[in-house]
Amino acid sequence: MTTVRDVRAKAGEETITMLTAYDAPTAAIVDEAGVDVILVGDSVGNVALGYETTIPVTVDQMAGHVGAVSRATEEALVVADMPFLSVGVDERSSIENAGRMLKEEGAHAVKLESGPHTVELTEKLVQLGIPVMAHLGLTPQHVNQYGGYPRQGTDQEAAERILELAREHEDAGAFSLVLEHVPANLAAEVTAALDIPTIGIGAGPDCDGQVLVFHDAVGLSEWTPSFSKQFGNARAEMEAAVADYVEAVEGGSFPAEEHSHEESDLEELY
Ligand code: KIV
Repeated sequence: MTTVRDVRAKAGEETITMLTAYDAPTAAIVDEAGVDVILVGDSVGNVALGYETTIPVTVDQMAGHVGAVSRATEEALVVADMPFLSVGVDERSSIENAGRMLKEEGAHAVKLESGPHTVELTEKLVQLGIPVMAHLGLTPQHVNQYGGYPRQGTDQEAAERILELAREHEDAGAFSLVLEHVPANLAAEVTAALDIPTIGIGAGPDCDGQVLVFHDAVGLSEWTPSFSKQFGNARAEMEAAVADYVEAVEGGSFPAEEHSHEESDLEELY
């Protein structure tokens, strides 16, 4: 089983792979493929629950998805993303919400969309035994402040702020850092400055690892961001399978004899 120590030890040594998963079958696929870290992202909100953003996702919803993924995962490290306002409002509820993901749902660590408000909290959670993955750059829970999903760290001041926050979260005890949608040269600089591994999404090739949303990577999403890549065409395969099913049922070829079962002692039913 992969531990946070294994992931941390890969910094500068071996590339870390991370994918999201939100349910048991996809978690099993990702785990069996040998992915190091499974992130139960709050992206479940827009990817699987039909919301436009991650804002409406609740702790209860996350708990259900984290439990499903944990039960299906044997090797990978399972990281539970903490949804909007589940951490950072007050210390007690932050600890209870994060702790629930480990205590009740089987996650090994939590991810916090990070900022100045999560430095002390990261330290506290780590002291209590809750490993923390930090997340800087584009933090989608700030969509209403950004007015969209713009690239972050694009001027000197913003880049310096990200680097400083990265250092502060490392000092607070985070075991890794997600860098989302930042210039590749900034991600390279942050990666070089830290001992903990960086895991990039839209952050260029020089991070210690990469993460993508499962549905984007397998080609199931209708739309994918420009920094993502479709490694398959799952949507086309699923569409073809469903069309074949409809045709077979409507045409009477399914269920066939081999899909049916007759019981001889039911002959006198009427
Ligand atoms: O929620 C999520 O899937 C994420 C990743 C994109 C890093 O935060």
